[in-house]
Amino acid sequence: MNWLGLLVLLTLAGLAEGTWDNCGGICGLRPMVYEYEYMDHDNGTTRVVGGADAKLGAWPWIVSLKHPAIPGTRHLCGGSLITAEWVLTAAHCFDPIRKIGMVYLVIGATQLTKPGHGAQLRRIKKLVRHEHYNPSDKSNDIALLQLSKPVDCNPYVQLACVADPALSLSELQNCWVAGWGATAARSQTSSDILQEAKVQLIDVQLCNSSGWYAGVVHTHNLCAGYPQGKIDTCQGDSGGPLMCQDENSDFFWIVGVTSWGRGCARVKRPGIYTSTLYFYDWILAHISPETIENAY
Ligand SMILES: *[C@@H]1O[C@H](CO)[C@@H](O)[C@H](O)[C@H]1NC(C)=O
Ligand SMILES: *[C@@H]1O[C@H](CO)[C@@H](O)[C@H](O)[C@H]1NC(C)=O
Repeated sequence: MNWLGLLVLLTLAGLAEGTWDNCGGICGLRPMVYEYEYMDHDNGTTRVVGGADAKLGAWPWIVSLKHPAIPGTRHLCGGSLITAEWVLTAAHCFDPIRKIGMVYLVIGATQLTKPGHGAQLRRIKKLVRHEHYNPSDKSNDIALLQLSKPVDCNPYVQLACVADPALSLSELQNCWVAGWGATAARSQTSSDILQEAKVQLIDVQLCNSSGWYAGVVHTHNLCAGYPQGKIDTCQGDSGGPLMCQDENSDFFWIVGVTSWGRGCARVKRPGIYTSTLYFYDWILAHISPETIENAY
């Protein structure tokens, strides 16, 4: 049972005068992608590092956190829209915490310099970083942002489905990462067009073994990428989603939040993600009071 999904539905049901949520109680679907379905097909070797340009509206829940002091596109971190007024991201995006006052969010964009008509800007009303987040070992690297005002869903702005603990990860085959982060390992420059790449979930025990990450991977982490490197998340992708398609359906689950990696796209150094399955109750607990309040 996906309680978060149910909560969104219940909230909607209780909203007779429905002012804030027009996202239809739906999550994880990509209306624009259905338009592309009969157009050219990727052949799986698509050139994030090693990724390809995402099409408009390809990942309609992805969010760019921006800070005016960052040169170029101002992009600071990624995030995912999980309700009309909450964004899931990484706690380390706010190291140091003073960054928060100036941060704003762009929702519904693919190209940062040309966000398009579907895109919406928001400020942060409230930041909830995990109470046990530890910057030195990146444990509990998860945070929630409440938006200054709920978003209006449209084909470019949709909610993500947050994976619940009942989901069987080992059965999910079609997993992707996306972000505006660096497209080369030593680069600090973010990419203007959203990059996407297909990745494999890598067993955490293998990922934590000697020759790999040798003991620094936490039990609440996921590893994804390729043993041989080459395709990976990188600087600037932090906070963004690791997404897997449901086994029996069209929609995507957010299974992880991009946390860290040693270098980018190196051999046996895949990306490390904070598991949303592990933190599902934490997420729900922090967004529920607000959601229920709004329902009345
Ligand atoms: C995939 O498509 C690219 C560009 O069209 C082409 O160069 C490449 O050979 C294709 N790879 C396979 C495995 O078909
Ligand atoms: C990785 O290894 C360390 C040290 O042995 C251990 O504390 C940690 O729990 C392990 N992580 C996982 C995912 O098992």
